Amino acid sequence: MQIVWITGASSGIGAALAQAYSQRGVRLVLSARRRERLEAVRAACLNPDWHRIVPLDLADPATLEAAAEQVLAEAGRVDVLVHNGGISQRALVQDTDMDVVRRIMEVNFFGAVALTRAVLPSMLARRRGQIVVVSSVVGRFGTPQRAAYASSKHALHGFFDALRAEVHDAGLRVTIACPGRVQTDISLHALTGDGSPHGQMDPGQARGMPADVCAERIVRAAERGKEEVYIGGTEVLGVYVKRFAPRLFSRLIRSVNVT
Ligand SMILES: NC(=O)c1ccc[n+]([C@@H]2O[C@H](COP(=O)([O-])OP(=O)(O)OC[C@H]3O[C@@H](n4cnc5c(N)ncnc54)[C@H](OP(=O)(O)O)[C@@H]3O)[C@@H](O)[C@H]2O)c1
Repeated sequence: MQIVWITGASSGIGAALAQAYSQRGVRLVLSARRRERLEAVRAACLNPDWHRIVPLDLADPATLEAAAEQVLAEAGRVDVLVHNGGISQRALVQDTDMDVVRRIMEVNFFGAVALTRAVLPSMLARRRGQIVVVSSVVGRFGTPQRAAYASSKHALHGFFDALRAEVHDAGLRVTIACPGRVQTDISLHALTGDGSPHGQMDPGQARGMPADVCAERIVRAAERGKEEVYIGGTEVLGVYVKRFAPRLFSRLIRSVNVT
């Protein structure tokens, strides 16, 4: 039976990923900071007793090492590690404190790197394992008011593309999923320039793809061993416009409504 470890499992896409994976009969390890939310997610999954809660803070390396040690000791291995935990941003570069840029990089990028480094030796020893990274279409282009968020997601692509090449011959696989707009609380939790939460459900967010639809597509892409997948509505087209008509993309993105 597969062991699937999901970060950011306490809400949104992560909670939906927990549901989608549990329907496939796996054993889950559910991580985030809010234990009570994780307990509710576990209770809603198929076979709740099979699943573990391991709270951690992606911005605190000490909790990540301790969590990885606990998971490997208790579950024995990790078959699929899903890096989903993250925070977004709603502020112009000129209004964003440096501490906020660092925090977003810490949670979205360094947290995933640290957990990967903690789990990787055990995957390499078994010559088995999959790492699923929840990036964003903003990991493929930058949009206004998301400079730090886009940077953190771009960084994930560089790191995990390199890792994919390094571990391929050892039998490990890496899938990067890039959702567009998904209906979750992400805009409520997004950081403004001084680090306070945006606290609003943005209209674009509310009109996004349902989280369960997104999660199902992420899991299917991972099962098929896809290296990179774009999931969403018309915003996904931006990836192709940026790639094939970058000057047109630059003109369009200046006037895009980012809320
Ligand atoms: N919604 C979208 O439109 C969209 C689009 C593209 C990509 N994504 C990505 O999808 C992922 C999930 O986001 P979501 O939309 O589901 O938003 P969400 O509902 O706000 O969920 C974010 C998750 O990340 C966890 N998290 C945040 N800070 C953390 C920290 N310091 N340590 C540990 N966990 C932390 C949260 O748990 P706690 O607060 O309990 O710690 C929560 O479980 C993110 O990586 C996001 O960038 C979302």
